[in-house]
Amino acid sequence: MSDTVNDARVSFTVNGREAHVRADHPHLLAALREELDITSPKDGCSPSGQCGCCTVLLDGKAVVACQLPLTRAAGKSIVTLEGVSDEERDTYASAFAAVGGLQCGFCIPGIVIRAKAQIDKKGADLAPHDMARHLGAHLCRCTGYVKILDAIDAVAKGKRLPVELGAEVGASGVKYEARELALGDRGYVDDIRVPGMLHAALHLSAHTRARVRAIDTSRAMAAPGVVAVFTAADVPGELRVGIIYKDWPVLIPVDGLTSCAGDVLAVVVADTRQNARAAAELVDVDYEVLRPLVDAVAAIDDPEIAVWGTDSNVLSISDYQRGDVDVALAGAAHVVHEVFQTQRIEHAFLEPESTLAVPTLDDAGAVAAMHVYSGGQGVWDDRNDIARVLDVDTSRVTVELVSNGGAFGGKEDMSNQAQTALAAWLLGRPVKCTLSREESLLIHPKRHPIRLEYWAGCDAEGALTAIRVRAVGDSGAYASVGMKVLERAAGHASGPYRVFSIDVRAVAVRTNNPSCGAFRGFGANQAQFAMEGVIDRLAESVGISGWEMRKRNVIRPGELWGPGQIMDDGCAGAERCLDAVKPAYEQAREAGKAVGLGLGLKNSGLGNGFKEIARAVVRFATDGTVEVRHCWTEMGQGIHTVALQVAAQELAIDPARIKVVVDTTRELGAGQTTGSRGTLMGAGSVADACRAALADGCKVDVDYEGEFRVDWTNKLTDDVEHPIIHSAFGYAAQMAVIDRATGKIERVIAAHDVGRAVNPTLCEGQIEGSVHMGLGYALTEDFPADDRGFPTNMTLRSLGILRAKDVPPIDVMLIEVPQPRAPYGIKGVGEIGLVPTAGAVAAALHDLDGTWRATLPMRAADTGDD
Ligand code: FES
Ligand code: FES
Repeated sequence: MSDTVNDARVSFTVNGREAHVRADHPHLLAALREELDITSPKDGCSPSGQCGCCTVLLDGKAVVACQLPLTRAAGKSIVTLEGVSDEERDTYASAFAAVGGLQCGFCIPGIVIRAKAQIDKKGADLAPHDMARHLGAHLCRCTGYVKILDAIDAVAKGKRLPVELGAEVGASGVKYEARELALGDRGYVDDIRVPGMLHAALHLSAHTRARVRAIDTSRAMAAPGVVAVFTAADVPGELRVGIIYKDWPVLIPVDGLTSCAGDVLAVVVADTRQNARAAAELVDVDYEVLRPLVDAVAAIDDPEIAVWGTDSNVLSISDYQRGDVDVALAGAAHVVHEVFQTQRIEHAFLEPESTLAVPTLDDAGAVAAMHVYSGGQGVWDDRNDIARVLDVDTSRVTVELVSNGGAFGGKEDMSNQAQTALAAWLLGRPVKCTLSREESLLIHPKRHPIRLEYWAGCDAEGALTAIRVRAVGDSGAYASVGMKVLERAAGHASGPYRVFSIDVRAVAVRTNNPSCGAFRGFGANQAQFAMEGVIDRLAESVGISGWEMRKRNVIRPGELWGPGQIMDDGCAGAERCLDAVKPAYEQAREAGKAVGLGLGLKNSGLGNGFKEIARAVVRFATDGTVEVRHCWTEMGQGIHTVALQVAAQELAIDPARIKVVVDTTRELGAGQTTGSRGTLMGAGSVADACRAALADGCKVDVDYEGEFRVDWTNKLTDDVEHPIIHSAFGYAAQMAVIDRATGKIERVIAAHDVGRAVNPTLCEGQIEGSVHMGLGYALTEDFPADDRGFPTNMTLRSLGILRAKDVPPIDVMLIEVPQPRAPYGIKGVGEIGLVPTAGAVAAALHDLDGTWRATLPMRAADTGDD
């Protein structure tokens, strides 16, 4: 046996130092992170090697550490970002910060290592297209790669760019904590270690619909390193949790029924993650297998109930009518009837869910309180539900937000927070549970597949006269926010257009497929893919261009929209976006390109009668620093930077004095970080807190609280002639240009009315990332389930996410039509970015080959991509 490997230990050099690690780690990444506490390489998908987050240098060559057995690392030299010289670290961190080349940051340390390997070899000769090819081993779900490649190019060419925080609203300063994120120094939940910490793993159901006859934990208990195994029988309080309906069991008990592939049967706690996961496989469950319900339309009338504890397969119905659609359609010069079908897709945030629960013991050794570290999007909901599961007062539970590695709506529901807190509570010891990529895919809710049947009519000039929409969304097993997603799809069914008669009905259906819930766009994407398809089909019938059809119908201030809302001056942004793309549209058509256009709108904020109140605190310290405390989840979108720039402007101080703190100890509760509302409401509450401070002379150690509220919207069901369903919308026009010779998308032009761009660089980055996601949604992404309700694409690679080399150039145009009653006129940009994309791509493909498409994804093969 070599002197670098023996029965117990493996030796290699890490960052210039000798390391001797246990030989039983499954791969190098586990040894680095779990034994050596080197956490800049992140774990996004181990051991599958498909995300690139764990990339390290092995004898100078970039390799993914999760694919490297320790035997192959033995005797080698390994370098992570912790071991790179300070000067070089500064060079990379500055470049990524300066150009906005990162959002959540989870993917970046691995990408920096890959870039270093290439730049070390090729220096200034490293071409961006070459680097894009090398990034084929990496995924970034946030940025669209545009600014990542800009950052790498800056390093390769030796450009030094200014790295400054933005001192006011509208300044393109660097992202808060950008340097730490780029280097992997800003920890995510899985990077936190506390003394005495144990590891938990979950045992998931083998059947999507089955009665649990018995659970035998004896083999798991006897496995090496196992401390405890918990089942539903150990839950002291309520079994079910949920953001709106409490229908989601945290553990399925004996005699209970499973309802989807993500159901949890047992929690295994052990000394190491590896031991916990191995033992979780040994939990034996006896099932009586039942027929799963996997067809949403059929489930509506199925006599059997799909989900345990519910009494109907219809989760919700959202409907509204204006005018007489039958008469209008009968009198229309042109009518279109089409059925559109969108697909289920996966968020694929790069950081799998992780929770760390740390109990505090009283003098008698009993658990007095619980502190939970979470990267979720709704820590207040999480706290309340954890307290219900533990059967304790909410005052004994604190959920501390840790900025996460991407979410996009997929971290609104609890995933493993309750099970982890339960284990820590029962054991009186800190417990961490980090999901594997497969568990993450199985557990958190997805984007809804929706069947949308449209009938639409227009007059001879192309003016829309009527639409009728019947939509059925497969919401999967648990409610999550599925009814709200279908409500949003209903509300946005007519897109940003004026329609005189409208009749919409959208049904959310429970099945035994993966649960569906919030995902960037929240039902607006599905509806507007269909509506844009209708607009283009009608334009062809009328004999006018897609641009002209949109111009003739775009909603304008003072006109009636969708459910009857009279649109405010903010909606002038829709036409402004359309006008902004006109020159490029005409130029591309004249050049003989295949061109498609999409116009979209997306609400900001919850609306629908919900009272939204956000608070923030500004606090001056004796050392001259100023704390800005808010409670929004930073998930890459830049809410910390927004808070900083607003405070710098209002207080007229150097932004370097400001420290942004996510505070979940004060009752700042703003609800979920969702619905494009963080920037709008966060900015409003921080500005208000600053004004309170200024009015009082900015005294030291005083909490100056500010508030922003939106409490003037109406529900769809309110008996109001002109309901204000939403207080604000963002608008966008996007254009896809296809080269007829290759069939490839060669450019996307995205004109976005954001009301006010607080930080134009970050705003642009949000849009580029959204367009990347939108192109995947349009062409390649899918998360289907089999006839038992089990997902079939269970790896990151199989999800169809576009890699760097496949992303066309994206030209972003920022337009600022201020939103009335919003701070600085902000509209929010988090979700609108991919609302028009699929429609634009479908129209461009039709222009290319004359075929109308009504089903997503339209597949790479359709575009000629390989
Ligand atoms: S964690 Fe290694 S490639 Fe994803
Ligand atoms: S910045 Fe790349 S995954 Fe978030």
